[in-house]
Amino acid sequence: MALHLSLLLLLLSLISPTIIHSSHVQDPELIVQEVQEKIYNATTRRNLGYLSCGTGNPIDDCWRCDSKWAKNRQRLADCAIGFGKGAIGGKNGKIYVVTNTKDDPVNPKPGSLRYGVIQDEPLWIIFERDMVIKLKEELMLNSFKTIDGRGASVHIAGGPCITIQYVTNIIVHGINVHDCKRGGNANVRDSPSHYGWRTISDGDGISIFGGSHIWVDHCSLSSCTDGLIDAIHGSTAITISNNYMTHHNKVMLLGHSDSETRDKNMQVTIAFNHFGEGLVQRMPRCRHGYFHVVNNDYTHWEMYAIGGSADPTINSQGNRFLAPNDPNNKEVTKREEWPQSAWKKWNWRSQGDLLLNGAFFTTSGAAASSSYARASSLSARPSSYVGSITVNAGTLSCKQGSHC
Ligand SMILES: *[C@@H]1O[C@H](CO)[C@@H](O)[C@H](O)[C@H]1NC(C)=O
Repeated sequence: MALHLSLLLLLLSLISPTIIHSSHVQDPELIVQEVQEKIYNATTRRNLGYLSCGTGNPIDDCWRCDSKWAKNRQRLADCAIGFGKGAIGGKNGKIYVVTNTKDDPVNPKPGSLRYGVIQDEPLWIIFERDMVIKLKEELMLNSFKTIDGRGASVHIAGGPCITIQYVTNIIVHGINVHDCKRGGNANVRDSPSHYGWRTISDGDGISIFGGSHIWVDHCSLSSCTDGLIDAIHGSTAITISNNYMTHHNKVMLLGHSDSETRDKNMQVTIAFNHFGEGLVQRMPRCRHGYFHVVNNDYTHWEMYAIGGSADPTINSQGNRFLAPNDPNNKEVTKREEWPQSAWKKWNWRSQGDLLLNGAFFTTSGAAASSSYARASSLSARPSSYVGSITVNAGTLSCKQGSHC
């Protein structure tokens, strides 16, 4: 019966690609294979194009060695990998320059960050100089926006932070996001023609709510009230890459409720991040969907690294997991609130992961793993690459006229 159903779905997807497209759901095995191939190409330097200086990081190799990066900023939009690779952000839109740090949640003024992000047209948002922006309320992004911090030291900090709600095609790159607080019980503008009442927010660094085609790259995130990056309510087509996360308890929540079945369509790539000092749990904590966790460096966790409930698929490849010294917290994985009789069927795989200081990964759902074989002609790049691939995780220091 299960076989017949999957055959039917396969046929449906062949004859009617729009069904797949309309809900943003991609064939996870094909996306995983493509990511593996990109990493393989970058780490074996088979792909030294004219922009590539062979960092071995396939996202960075796509743009970082261009000394004219400041003139070619929008090239970044072609560099994502994984489930969020289709996020074009503000590509082909105008450049909008943030010139001041003031914030008016309902009537934002030209030159402010909020004025840029609420516009209806695609915009590529950059910053005139180093700045710390303390928002008064959540920053409600409109679709087709890139927030590009390259060339300046930009901090969104100390107030409510970034909210991506029911919008698509967002790139957030090179921003320091930290000390984010709750906002709400206030009106907030989310487009030139609309503002609305916001209840109290969670206090996330980046909150993705019913959003799709989202890419968060080279950000440094720490010390927020709730999650650093949370994605809930049917969000999908997300890539979280090259970020440096520190000093935080509940790092990433991907799916907020076991009963939220829309999250069965959630597909997230988590690649080349450094999960660093002062982190406790949820890197990430997953529900329902498909999560490809590849070549990340886990140097600190207090409770566990990767967890979940409600039958998520977790495909962990080529990560480096360094367990804490506490003998009770060596396990990478954590299943929440479900009996073993249920979770033993969940498809949690570990391939090529490097497990250090007693770290162990409890796999499950072995019977399903044969379905991966057809896609995986290449195996994951070994975790020995993780150190060099993640060495520049977090915001980069980019000067005009030279490589970032
Ligand atoms: C990997 O490199 C080969 C050879 O240059 C190329 O044909 C292929 O498209 C590359 N794969 C990806 C996913 O970029």
